[in-house]
Amino acid sequence: MTTIDLEEQFMKRVAADEKVEPKDWMPEKYRKTLIRQIAQHAHSEVVGMLPEANYISRAPSLRRKAALLAKIQDEGGHGLYLYCAAETLGVERDTLIEELHSGKAKYSSIFNYPTLSWADMGAIGWLVDGAAILNQVPLCKCSYGPYARAMVRVCKEESFHQRQGYEILLTLCNGSADQKQMAQDSLNRWWWPSLMMFGPSDADSTNSEYSMKTKIKRFSNDELRQKFVDATKPQADILGLTIPDPDLKFNEQTRHWEYGEIDWEEFHNVVQGNGVCNKIRLRERNEAWDNGKWVREAATAYAEKREQRKNESKQVA
Ligand code: 3HC
Repeated sequence: MTTIDLEEQFMKRVAADEKVEPKDWMPEKYRKTLIRQIAQHAHSEVVGMLPEANYISRAPSLRRKAALLAKIQDEGGHGLYLYCAAETLGVERDTLIEELHSGKAKYSSIFNYPTLSWADMGAIGWLVDGAAILNQVPLCKCSYGPYARAMVRVCKEESFHQRQGYEILLTLCNGSADQKQMAQDSLNRWWWPSLMMFGPSDADSTNSEYSMKTKIKRFSNDELRQKFVDATKPQADILGLTIPDPDLKFNEQTRHWEYGEIDWEEFHNVVQGNGVCNKIRLRERNEAWDNGKWVREAATAYAEKREQRKNESKQVA
């Protein structure tokens, strides 16, 4: 079969919503697009642990500390699922991690903002994980099997992340005036960066056309962003918080919340490495990798010893 025939057959499978598996033929562009997106997704999960780690020792109660620890641990696990999914496409995990640590690889812009108060733990759970859920649920129907299956487990855990964040803010908003102001300040700082998580506008999205044609993406960036605004505004109303967008208004015809202009200059600045925390995040990631070297070496030595013992006992038997 010619490559054209193979591509035609591949697109027919995708159109029929069949799952593409690692051993199946796939266009090189499809493989590269998946490696790019899954690797960035994995990097985002792992770097995403850092902003919240800042508050483990500052959590106001053991219950809050336990929930935050569980959430951060989940994010690390999501990263490992996603690195595994990327490896099924023939890329080495160490290569991906080296690209992250050298600053070559992208990860979600949202994690380059500082966490300045306990309310930020609430805003991250409510807004960042809320945005992640809207972006990740459609990925459960992604055309690439391993990515779709990883998302099913991830999305179950994201729901807990979002609820624990929202409950933190609900507690603060039902607390003192100062606590409610802390929550409002946090919403003011995290609202617009959360909208940027969905990527550039559809008009400026360089990858969406191919990703949607091959059903990696099921909705466009703007469609998911709109879903997020429509879902989150009523939640802010329940909290009694004001979304920091003077242009936010409900359109009775379209039944959607129309929102103001996103600061795309800020978005591109952060994506290009000039955000408040880009350098700190990379430094912390490299330090964690270096400090964890002994753990990796010990685990490898143990696995080799265990394999050696298994082979020896086979020879004796
Ligand atoms: N931060 C950094 N880079 C971004 C970005 C963001 N928020 N949004 C887009 N970009 C980059 C893209 O990677 C692309 O650059 P590249 O071609 O060099 O890779 C460029 O901007 C153009 O954007 P596109 O819309 O063309 O790119 P995509 O089609 O990849 O769409 C996306 C971007 C919607 C983020 C898509 O990649 C996606 O859905 N990824 C999977 C989900 C994901 O990674 N979410 C990130 C957060 S994970 C998270 O929040 C975990 C939770 O537990 C907290």
